[in-house]
Amino acid sequence: MKPKVIVHGGAGEIPDEHINNHIIGCETAINIAWEILNEGGDATSAVEAAIKHLEDIPEFDAGKGSFLNTEGFVEMDAMIMNGKDLNIGSVAGITRVKNPIQLAKQIMQNNEHNMLFGTAALNFARLKHLEERDPEWFVTEYTHKIWNTNQTDSNMYGTVGCVALDSYGDLCAGTSTGGTKNQQPGRIGDSPLVGCGAYADNLTAGVSSTGNGEDIMKVVLSKLAADLTAIEESAQDASKEAINIFQERTDSQAGLIMIDSQGEISCSYNTPRMSRAWINEKGQIESRV
Ligand code: GLY
Repeated sequence: MKPKVIVHGGAGEIPDEHINNHIIGCETAINIAWEILNEGGDATSAVEAAIKHLEDIPEFDAGKGSFLNTEGFVEMDAMIMNGKDLNIGSVAGITRVKNPIQLAKQIMQNNEHNMLFGTAALNFARLKHLEERDPEWFVTEYTHKIWNTNQTDSNMYGTVGCVALDSYGDLCAGTSTGGTKNQQPGRIGDSPLVGCGAYADNLTAGVSSTGNGEDIMKVVLSKLAADLTAIEESAQDASKEAINIFQERTDSQAGLIMIDSQGEISCSYNTPRMSRAWINEKGQIESRV
């Protein structure tokens, strides 16, 4: 089967000065994932590597550059899901771990549970020798300014995500986030919740969502979009219908990327912008904001 892959760098009012780095970040992430898939790597490895790259770029709200909570430190959420066996790895409210998506993958592959949070998640990361950084390392000039000026407007959803279909026909979806600006300590968004922040099932689709987490949970957006592939004519129609339903029911903002079981790539959003990149039918990178 011909591999497919798409990444996103979040939906919302992406600041003009961040657009260039969003495009470069998404394009380099897609290159990383594409190389893995082309060499026969699996979808899980491709998704993990692409999201790890995006987490390391300060302009995205995930890993370094995550929004700070009201107490001035980051608490991050991430999840990954395989479409073949429906296995899930999810982490919520994690601090210190440089790349939460790596922890999510470790939980999926090496833990009897699907989801860990807080101290227990950190202990498991240490057991797996994942890289750590001091809390100050995650803070950037931009996120510090947002914290310092008490900004809480939630029109920028910098969550990152990736969906891949490998040459064995297996789908994987992943999502990682630093949550929302000045969120309450202990808040957990949609990103680590199965079916909300991401979903993958080889029988339907792989989906990664971004947007207002409180409202994404209400319609279980990623699962909704995946299920709609069974009744809509195309993946693009299913993506669009999921966002329509989301908007009708919540009057809120979100975006999603999807690859269906046939390998059709799609994206839909009702925010002003959503950064994303994918490999088109000719094997070339395309990106949009
Ligand atoms: N969608 C990311 C969040 O609300 O935390």
